[in-house]
Amino acid sequence: MITVDRVRSRSHVVVGSGVAGLTAALGLGDAVVLTKSALGAGSTGWAQGGIAAAVSAGDRPAAHAADTVRVAGGLAVGDVAELVTAAAPDRIRWLVELGARFDRTRDGSLSLGREAGHSRRRIVHADGDATGAELIRVLRDAVRSRPDIEVIEHALAVDLLRAGARIAGVVTIDADGGRTAWMTGSLVLSTGGIGRLYARTTNPPEVTGDGLAMAIRAGVRVGDLEFVQFHPTALAAMLDPLPLLTEALRGEGAKLVTGRGLRYLKSVHADAELAPRDIVARATWQRLAAGDDVFLDATGIPDFSSRFPSVHRLATGAGFDPEGAPMPVTPAAHFHMGGITTDARGRSSAPGLWVCGEAASTGLHGANRLASNSLLEGLAFGARIATDIAGTAMPAPDPRRVTVPIDGLDAGPGDDGIVSAVRGIMWDRVGVERSGKGLGEAVEQLAALGKTAGTVEARTATTVAAAIASAALARPESRGSHFRTDHPDPDEAWARRTQIEHPPVATTPLLGWIARGAA
Ligand code: SIN
Repeated sequence: MITVDRVRSRSHVVVGSGVAGLTAALGLGDAVVLTKSALGAGSTGWAQGGIAAAVSAGDRPAAHAADTVRVAGGLAVGDVAELVTAAAPDRIRWLVELGARFDRTRDGSLSLGREAGHSRRRIVHADGDATGAELIRVLRDAVRSRPDIEVIEHALAVDLLRAGARIAGVVTIDADGGRTAWMTGSLVLSTGGIGRLYARTTNPPEVTGDGLAMAIRAGVRVGDLEFVQFHPTALAAMLDPLPLLTEALRGEGAKLVTGRGLRYLKSVHADAELAPRDIVARATWQRLAAGDDVFLDATGIPDFSSRFPSVHRLATGAGFDPEGAPMPVTPAAHFHMGGITTDARGRSSAPGLWVCGEAASTGLHGANRLASNSLLEGLAFGARIATDIAGTAMPAPDPRRVTVPIDGLDAGPGDDGIVSAVRGIMWDRVGVERSGKGLGEAVEQLAALGKTAGTVEARTATTVAAAIASAALARPESRGSHFRTDHPDPDEAWARRTQIEHPPVATTPLLGWIARGAA
């Protein structure tokens, strides 16, 4: 008999320890941070690009917001773009106060990089291309120094607790294999994206869509799931995940060329290599699909190893010499614009649940995210959520009303082989280019796999992948990162975000579950 081994209550429970979750926890106080591996593991620490912020003399948040909206395929929410870009300079100041060491010019001002889709240099970075690592360093230190923030590592969140329409907490499988029911008046999900559901990804192993799966199972509104961003320049090495070759390289002059030396992006977009990411990824994919090899030629960048130490380390570790020769590249799943739908305060459709970071669909990114807006979104929404929760004073849930999904009670952690099958289907049929036929097949295959999923990981992968494939099938047009070969143009009738509430799975009273197990 599977049981809950521990029941605990906290004023605030934060799931996930990337930039968004740690920012929320620092703002909230009196919180527990639950994280599935080590504190700070996950996408944030791997971020190479940086944090977009209008901090230079000639720049304005309004210009940053305009760039954000311009590349987003008509689906960005203007108000959200405005509030996030307006918050950016203050968020950078906050990080500097926490001790972040950003790269600076000789005169002491922030050194600003350029990335695709930005109309000017505005990317704040650290140690060249190791911004995420610096962010995690300062946020982790700040959290560790706070006695009112408890951190539980190696706690895998598996299902949301509900009390009627309200979210009342979360169940974790812990390092010792036991289960804890965490009850709270305010649950913050910051569980990251879904990149690991694709055979080719730049994302670390932790990024498996856990929050999205839990929300779908609880009937919480999710949206824009079809919009998966593929980064155009992952290093085409025999590695999993694929090393990222940051877009900042193209900002410093690196070129994309075919094996015959053709700079193919010149005929695709006026900004060539600095065109919006969806355009560069698709053009690159089409070259590969046509049988060309594609390379990123960064040999013209001076002082490469000191300016891009992370890329240099990753590339040389994989046997490539970025200074000596062009490097082979492929698009790879990188970021999910879709997720758990939130409003501008970070509130989900279910009272008691807030969401931030890549797990959220706030409307900032629309159908295609502007480079280096993701760390910023986590910083901005993590802080907004803390403020919103402080003014909300949600009462603790009544334990007698709390329920937990029945069908997940006996699932344990581990990969039973289903996850790798899911990753292959997603890459082959729900990738850079999709078709109605391929998506229909993916939906069927994923549903069949879902029926046999026996572990939490397999259940999460099949649940989330099926929802993404179905959303892609349901959008018969091309927009931003979502490209349908059978509907290659945008359709004005579809110039809207998608919002879905899946039917919640059946639940059973938490107290009964504990009592049965104890009996
Ligand atoms: C990159 O460094 O190219 C990625 C930055 C981002 O995902 O915004």
